[in-house]
Amino acid sequence: EWTPEAFVDMTVAELKEKVGDDKVVLGLSGGVDSTVAAVLLHKAIGKNLYCIFVNNGLLRKGEFESVLDQYKHMGLNVKGVDASARFLDALAGISDPEGKRKAIGKTFIEVFDDEAHLIQDVKFLAQGTIYPDVIESISVNGPSATIKSHHNVGGLPDFMKLKVVEPLRMLFKDEVRRVGAEMGIDKELLGRHPFPGPGLAIRILGDITAEKVRVLQEVDAIFINGLKEWMLYDKVWQAGAILLPVSSVGVMGDERTYEKVVALRAVESTDGMTADWVNLPYDFLQKTSNTIINRVKGVNRVVYDISSKPPATIEWE
Ligand code: XMP
Repeated sequence: EWTPEAFVDMTVAELKEKVGDDKVVLGLSGGVDSTVAAVLLHKAIGKNLYCIFVNNGLLRKGEFESVLDQYKHMGLNVKGVDASARFLDALAGISDPEGKRKAIGKTFIEVFDDEAHLIQDVKFLAQGTIYPDVIESISVNGPSATIKSHHNVGGLPDFMKLKVVEPLRMLFKDEVRRVGAEMGIDKELLGRHPFPGPGLAIRILGDITAEKVRVLQEVDAIFINGLKEWMLYDKVWQAGAILLPVSSVGVMGDERTYEKVVALRAVESTDGMTADWVNLPYDFLQKTSNTIINRVKGVNRVVYDISSKPPATIEWE
């Protein structure tokens, strides 16, 4: 029978054996998978694990600082790299969803490669790949490591020439959470909603500007903090806000306004493949909508997304 304790013991021993005294570099995302992978490796090799946490400027409000702080408290050897401006530059003028993903992926690789170069004599690249990612990668790209799938071998950045370590590649998400809990990782961190790699970029429909990111961060923070206050956060699989590329007419005092519309989305799911919108209490939606419209300048209308997947996807892009 599979138990998290046995998995941790066995994996730590295997990692020690495989890595020895060599250095390993790992990209932390703030998510469950990369965090659990990092803590496992940290248990096995300590300071020889070099973690890099990149701020792409598209994270939730205050998240880069708070998560970086949490990582440091966990004893991880982590470097926070604020590359927000570089990502915004790369995204300038791009409205197409796949175009955004490409620009973000390319910039991430550049930033990560620069950082990996600063560490001398790294031999391994660790990734928080879990079993569903492995399956997806095999069906889409053939049996190659996930991160390599987008690139031809000749043009690989240097860090991709490293040997890959993926301690979670046989685990499902719930097992990853149990392993994390076994190692004492904070419950709140383990219970975090999934968040897409391209972050808020795919929740700002149309082109991305620093101002739009700021507006959406404010809206998202009100929604997510509200879910927590109302004890709804753990009942929802994933939630977030979307900034729509339309303006609508409103009224404030005796002035006519013409401002942005935001959509709120909250879904129930087990694996993200199918999802249902959540029947959030009307009182909660009413309070949240009022708070958003009163506090966030530039937004005068809030709508709630009541579409299921399929045929709608969870993200709007
Ligand atoms: P969809 O929108 O396809 O989303 O129903 C399913 C799950 O995948 C996440 N998602 C992404 N995650 N990069 C990611 O790392 C992406 O480009 C991406 N697109 C969607 C989404 O947040 C949801 O959890």
